[in-house]
Amino acid sequence: MYHNYDAVVIGGGGAGLMAATQISPAGSTAVLSKLHPMRSHTGAAQGGIGAALGNLEEDLWEWHMFDTVKGGDYLVDQDAAEILAQDAIEAIYELEHWGLPFDRTDDGKIAQRPFGGHTCNYGEGIVRRACYTADRTGHAILQTLYQRAIRNRVDFFDEFQVVDICIEAGACQGVVAYEVATGELHIFRAKTVLIATGGCGRLFRITSNAYSFTGDGHAMAFRKGVPLEDMEFFQFHPTGIYKLGILITEAVRGEGGILLNKDGERFMERYSPNLLDLAPRDVVARAIHTEVAEGRGIDGKDYVHLDASHLGREAVEKKLPDIQDFCGTYLGIDPAVEPMPVQPTAHYAMGGIPTNVDGQVLMDEKGTVLHGVYAAGECACVSVHGANRLGSNSLLELVVFGRRAGRHMAKHLTETDFLEVKPDPRERVKEELARLYEGDGTEEVATIRSEMRDVMMNNVGVFREQKRIDEAVEKVRELRNRYGKIRVQNRSNLFNQELLEALELGYLLELAEVAAMSAAARKESRGAHSRADYPDRDDDNWLKHTMAFRTERGVELRYKPVNISFFDPKPRTF
Ligand code: FUM
Repeated sequence: MYHNYDAVVIGGGGAGLMAATQISPAGSTAVLSKLHPMRSHTGAAQGGIGAALGNLEEDLWEWHMFDTVKGGDYLVDQDAAEILAQDAIEAIYELEHWGLPFDRTDDGKIAQRPFGGHTCNYGEGIVRRACYTADRTGHAILQTLYQRAIRNRVDFFDEFQVVDICIEAGACQGVVAYEVATGELHIFRAKTVLIATGGCGRLFRITSNAYSFTGDGHAMAFRKGVPLEDMEFFQFHPTGIYKLGILITEAVRGEGGILLNKDGERFMERYSPNLLDLAPRDVVARAIHTEVAEGRGIDGKDYVHLDASHLGREAVEKKLPDIQDFCGTYLGIDPAVEPMPVQPTAHYAMGGIPTNVDGQVLMDEKGTVLHGVYAAGECACVSVHGANRLGSNSLLELVVFGRRAGRHMAKHLTETDFLEVKPDPRERVKEELARLYEGDGTEEVATIRSEMRDVMMNNVGVFREQKRIDEAVEKVRELRNRYGKIRVQNRSNLFNQELLEALELGYLLELAEVAAMSAAARKESRGAHSRADYPDRDDDNWLKHTMAFRTERGVELRYKPVNISFFDPKPRTF
């Protein structure tokens, strides 16, 4: 089936929906999502969205910008950080006016809580900057944006998995989508396309990410010649539920929760005397890892305790109701009286599809724009998080840069004509699906996926070193070879999840190789990329972004400079 839309948005999460609200007044807009939009992973973001509103004490967007740059270990492009911190304030009030039910202060303003790495006066002390709706902030944002998009008459195609972005001769023609319910391939002709497909945390064994976070948009763009930027930087959130990885929000620590080792010691006093449990995530994740490695995990196991019991039942029930619910459901414990077992969990890709500050996809290290194709949200790398993202800046990024991308797309579509979708791209998609369907191989998707997740977790995790990263590169290449021999047993066209999981594994394997190769090459420690064999940051040689290209000879790495317009790199202390 053929469809014509001025704009197609791939992904129904926060970035896609925000962009759709901006495009739709200018032209027909379709959101294609492999899930119902309300099941998007934005809904799993819990603790807050950062903005220097100053509702509880003085705060300035310049401080927010500084914290973002320092938190990102100076790999942040500072022109993007400036926009993020400045536009945050207007974006939050816009969401409020659209009906977002923020928690309130006693005098009726939007409530704000502390989050890791957010400080006043350039690092002097903690500031309350994260605006929140209990511990369901992402969910509230998703609801608000979805309703706004419906009001703007955006068309939704739920459970349509985009399988190809059609780019010929450097121009965007549209996309091909697989209708999950029927197996039918649809062509969506479009003047402009936004990739807003979220992250790729399913690369790792322990992750807070939804099953759907399989890097589809990253990989589809990469296969069309778009490079991937800074993929070695993957954030481990310090507090995932032990073994399950499910997020326990940083808001627990924002509200006063503390981390304890087996001796009942508040160990963050040793790692971050100033910010303590609210140091940036890379610092806290490494501290937990070190406590465990040195034998101070609880009961000799690889977890520590997060204790909120001293906050009192009323505070836990009012401010952290979902956390209480998760702990009851998954652990059978009540955080109002018992500590929570936590360990670092793969949470967020700082890298992704390179874009400029208007969301336009960039084709190389020189900044060449791919006209008509945009990216926003976690799959994109406008490089506002650098080497380590601050908590509450991801919801903010998708709102601020989803909005900017949407506005630019609205302008672009008035200046552009539709292109013919030629040759019929469904033919090459059919070939790819047939290879999976009809292959008579010996390999199982689940086995390859499991081996990939283990090697990425163990060798490209919180701490890294050359030998182990190199082993990961080799292992992933072996898995990619074996992927060529997989067998999909379900031949049905109806809701064929086995087929879709096979496609998603192909995407993940591609990204695993890029992430491991980028990590192997970067011989320094910066933010979330922590090398036991190169423990120091090396600005002389490595203050630069990685750009990974897919070539006939395999993945090739090039580099581009960081935009440093305000704050010169300094050693980080917290
Ligand atoms: O801890 C959290 O609530 C997560 C927020 C974030 O990743 O920004």
